[in-house]
Amino acid sequence: MPDSSSPLYIDNAATSFPKPPEVAEAMHRLIREISLSPGRSAHSFSLAASRVIFEARELVAGFFGCPDSSRVVFTSNVTEALNVGIFGLLAPGDQVLTTGMEHNSVMRPLRHLEKTRGIHLDILPTDPTGAIDPDDIPGHLSKKTRLIIINHVSNVTGSVADLEAIGKRKGGALLMVDAAQSAGIFPLDMEAFGIDFLAFTGHKGLFGPTGTGGFLLREGLLVPPLKMGGTGSNSEEEAQPQLMPDCYESGTPNTLGIGGLAAGLEFINKTGRETIRQHEENLTRLLLDGLSLIQGVTVHGPPAGSARGSVVSLTMTGKSVADLAFVLDRQHNIMARSGLHCAPAAHRSISTFPHGTLRLSPGFFNTETDIQAVLTALDQISAGS
Ligand SMILES: Cc1ncc(COP(=O)(O)O)c(C=O)c1O
Repeated sequence: MPDSSSPLYIDNAATSFPKPPEVAEAMHRLIREISLSPGRSAHSFSLAASRVIFEARELVAGFFGCPDSSRVVFTSNVTEALNVGIFGLLAPGDQVLTTGMEHNSVMRPLRHLEKTRGIHLDILPTDPTGAIDPDDIPGHLSKKTRLIIINHVSNVTGSVADLEAIGKRKGGALLMVDAAQSAGIFPLDMEAFGIDFLAFTGHKGLFGPTGTGGFLLREGLLVPPLKMGGTGSNSEEEAQPQLMPDCYESGTPNTLGIGGLAAGLEFINKTGRETIRQHEENLTRLLLDGLSLIQGVTVHGPPAGSARGSVVSLTMTGKSVADLAFVLDRQHNIMARSGLHCAPAAHRSISTFPHGTLRLSPGFFNTETDIQAVLTALDQISAGS
């Protein structure tokens, strides 16, 4: 068991830590060896930087079942990616179908457009554990439904949306998926699942650094860009180029971060996405089994046996979740997150609003020993010792 002086990180739903050593090595090499401004000059450093971005784009496309890497767009995180899609695709009078489990990176732009652009929101009901029923979707669709937005794996409960079933029931609407918690861990195939707009973040399950993310567009889907400016292409024109993906990537990109993200993807390809998922699933099962034996603990989320991501939300009788996280951190050197996890809607859906939960999110680099240490600490807190 780790001694209480060695920090134990179990907050991988916020960002994965540690990153594979290959990610740090790739970034260290890139920042030492080349200037990182791609596509702006014809010299060899600029060409090398363009190659870094191109290779990362190819890796992302291959990873998500997209046959054309020019439909992969890099952004600074999934929030920016979702904003491009939400602001770009919705017009006055459009209806949006979404769920009670969405993150504020979906809910805030939607609530803003509800006020300023006159869109209409329809929120699919969840059961008390946060699960939606794909069979509810057809009854909520109308001719005005432009977009269905689904959080693939909840960052609050770990509940998993059945994308394949949802894709089959989307009717004439576009399907946008927030894959912040699932990318790199769960199977995600754009074409097979009928996803039109797939938004991902680079710094969680894909093992990239913070400041990376992006989206993939279904062929033929046109979305106006959110920002305009220099792209290094069509520089003679003052109009924004139409070229994919340049039209979305104005400004010097985060070449260093994108290079790190590519190393993260290579790590997943080498290790096996399924191996990673299995390991996380085992740790989560161990955690859930142990929590069921601790006095006063309630776990909020999918029932035993259903599909779930490696996110466990809990409350403890007589203790505030803020205190739990504080004591774990200060007395046991265990880093976990308490509160609403930027998803108040999800906490309303599972009746843990306004205080939220303590969230434990094991990652690939956690061990069974880590889980035992977390359980021992929570048991001691519960016993008041
Ligand atoms: C489901 C979900 N959506 C969106 C986000 C936002 O991610 P980012 O901060 O990388 O944009 C998160 C991260 O916390 C998340 O868990």
